Amino acid sequence: MPKIKVALIGVGNCASALVQGLQYYGNSKKEDEAIGLRHLVLGGFHPKDMQIVAAFDIDSRKVGKDLSKAIFAQPNNAPKIIDVSPSDVIVHKGPILDGVGEYIRNVIQISNQPETDVANILKESNAEIMLNLLPSGAVKASQFYAEQALGAGCAFVNATPTFIASDVAWAKRFEKAELPLVGDDLIDQVGATTLHKTLLKLLSLNGVRITETYQLDVGGGTESLDTLERTRDVKRAVKTKSVEATLPYKAEVVAGSMDYVDFLQNRRDSYFWIRGLYFSKTPMQIDLKLSTVDAPNAGSVLFDVIRAVKIALNKQMKGAIQPVCAYAFKHPPQMVPLETAETMFAEFIANNV
Ligand SMILES: NC(=O)c1ccc[n+]([C@@H]2O[C@H](COP(=O)([O-])OP(=O)(O)OC[C@H]3O[C@@H](n4cnc5c(N)ncnc54)[C@H](O)[C@@H]3O)[C@@H](O)[C@H]2O)c1
Repeated sequence: MPKIKVALIGVGNCASALVQGLQYYGNSKKEDEAIGLRHLVLGGFHPKDMQIVAAFDIDSRKVGKDLSKAIFAQPNNAPKIIDVSPSDVIVHKGPILDGVGEYIRNVIQISNQPETDVANILKESNAEIMLNLLPSGAVKASQFYAEQALGAGCAFVNATPTFIASDVAWAKRFEKAELPLVGDDLIDQVGATTLHKTLLKLLSLNGVRITETYQLDVGGGTESLDTLERTRDVKRAVKTKSVEATLPYKAEVVAGSMDYVDFLQNRRDSYFWIRGLYFSKTPMQIDLKLSTVDAPNAGSVLFDVIRAVKIALNKQMKGAIQPVCAYAFKHPPQMVPLETAETMFAEFIANNV
């Protein structure tokens, strides 16, 4: 099986979990050995079929280093689960643009290496899929890399909340370039939003009238710090809209990131509050806390997305690939119920391999 060649944009916590995961699951032979993965094999592809061939960052502790070392450099604080073998992929310096927000300025050490020619490196490395893992506030930088993907003929996966796959103009550009595009804002494996939606759906199906609900979280990764300054509002809007869509009626809904607590490291605590009325308007309430680690929460979904995009490439699909967007992203071009997204994705895989 030829490798799926991926270029990483941003060697932060998510990238660390992904790269460690490739090594961690690389020798898994059976589905039941691969605890924590939704699919060991998807569309015929095993994790060992995915290969990182290029990587870009701006931090001096990562630029110029082998990817296997850069993923463990500060300020990354994703847990180390495995020693990663040298990759022969040296992290290149990309343009900074709006990659560093005010709040993370003291956390990032900007490399003084010259910027590299991104499109050229993509071509030389034979990258076929670009994975955007930039900070969520890096809108211009995300758009710059989307341009580079178009220029180098790469499919584009946008894990960040910048609207690219869900933006009609960008989707048209990828369609014209005959390249697949998926996004925006990756769904976590143990996702607070998914859990929230599932609880609301269950209660609602049972005839409970939800009156008010919130889901707020605190995290300790660099991304949480950046969110505090730049993307709290957009993240709140995306999550709230997604949660509201679960209810067939109007209720008071708030969902989104709340704060940064540095000693949490890469951990995230999500708090859920649900209040409703059941038989004869009897009140009920749920008060819940979910504790996760951020970066590994992206791993299983990213494995599925990369392999699904490879399938789309093999089938010469172009533009926003709806079944993949709906399955794996919080802000797809078209929002559909969870079960519909699951069915769309399963059919997409079954019909295209
Ligand atoms: N579970 C998850 O971790 C999860 C889930 C959904 C979405 N996401 C999204 O994934 C993205 C990455 O999250 P993370 O936790 O890895 O963030 P992070 O802050 O740990 O990593 C971002 C990396 O990008 C680098 N960077 C900044 N500007 C750059 C530029 N111009 N060019 C190249 N590199 C640059 C930083 O140095 C850093 O290494 C975020 O947008 C986040 O919202 C993550």
